[in-house]
Amino acid sequence: MRAAYASALHPDEPLRGLTVADLPEPHVPDGWVPVDVRASSLNHHDLWSLRGVGLPADRLPMILGCDAAGVDPDGAEVVVFPVVEDKADPRGYSLFSERHPGTIAERLAAPRENLIPKPPELSFVEAACLPTAWLTAYHMLVTRGRIADASAVLVQGAGGGVSTAAVVLAAALGKRVYATSRDAGKRERIAALGATAVEPGARLAERVDVVIESVGAPTFDHSMKCSAPGARIVVCGATAGHRAEIDLRRVFAMQLEILGSSMGTAAELAGLLELCATRGVRPVIDTTVPFSEVGSAFARLASGDVFGKVAVDHQA
Ligand SMILES: NC(=O)c1ccc[n+]([C@@H]2O[C@H](COP(=O)([O-])OP(=O)(O)OC[C@H]3O[C@@H](n4cnc5c(N)ncnc54)[C@H](OP(=O)(O)O)[C@@H]3O)[C@@H](O)[C@H]2O)c1
Repeated sequence: MRAAYASALHPDEPLRGLTVADLPEPHVPDGWVPVDVRASSLNHHDLWSLRGVGLPADRLPMILGCDAAGVDPDGAEVVVFPVVEDKADPRGYSLFSERHPGTIAERLAAPRENLIPKPPELSFVEAACLPTAWLTAYHMLVTRGRIADASAVLVQGAGGGVSTAAVVLAAALGKRVYATSRDAGKRERIAALGATAVEPGARLAERVDVVIESVGAPTFDHSMKCSAPGARIVVCGATAGHRAEIDLRRVFAMQLEILGSSMGTAAELAGLLELCATRGVRPVIDTTVPFSEVGSAFARLASGDVFGKVAVDHQA
């Protein structure tokens, strides 16, 4: 079957290790089922994998991709929850493409309990954009950030997959949303999604109750300064540097909470799918390519110039 996979690891030039070619069908363990993948989407995670972060060389070749929507052996349309219980991993879980083959392939083996019905309102491509970046944003806002108690939210680096999701979801949940982006064109597009868009580091009209952080070192000080007393700064990544400087006086004086966040639960993914189906919320998609052009999808993500998700339509 055709697949996009890591054949080598290059910390500085991740795309050099990407191969698109035929590989054997995935092994289907007991309790797992094969899924015909109709659409998948890329995440920054795939670039980390190609750099060798979280993917050691002895696991190569490894099919990339955490996100998929497809059809199960009974013909049901499903979205695949990407988190697999994994006792060998210190986190207690792994994502597809870390230990088990990933989603950017004709077929994926997945635990049966990871299959969630795809609402008919969503296309396969739209559904395939939700399981990682959108679920992460949902978990950060709803569960970790306790957005129900918030009036205003700040999203840093708002052009990315997680960040565009956070802007759309926070606006759909009725909050005032501020978003930073380095790029004027992206700021215009973020504003169209319902946020007040500002340059990185800009002073906001008010302090916020929840900050969505995935950029890291370049934005963290701004995240602290924009926080209202008792605010939750929820961190899911550190795209641009993981060693941020923290003024502890601000942490205790303002009683800030700095919270780590990783992925979400299958029940949250079902809740996110329902929100999309019933409230007309749709993922922001930067680009959709046919499988034959999957290499260009990776190049687009690596350019850092994306606005929303990069998806692969396996049926095109
Ligand atoms: N913990 C989890 O469960 C989880 C899940 C998903 C993702 N993540 C992590 O979250 C991060 C974002 O993932 P993603 O898939 O949304 O990535 P992405 O689509 O590649 O977006 C990254 C965004 O970060 C901003 N950025 C990049 N370099 C920057 C810099 N030097 N200064 C300021 N901003 C910069 C950019 O925003 P602008 O161009 O708008 O400024 C860019 O659009 C990654 O580190 C990923 O590993 C974690």
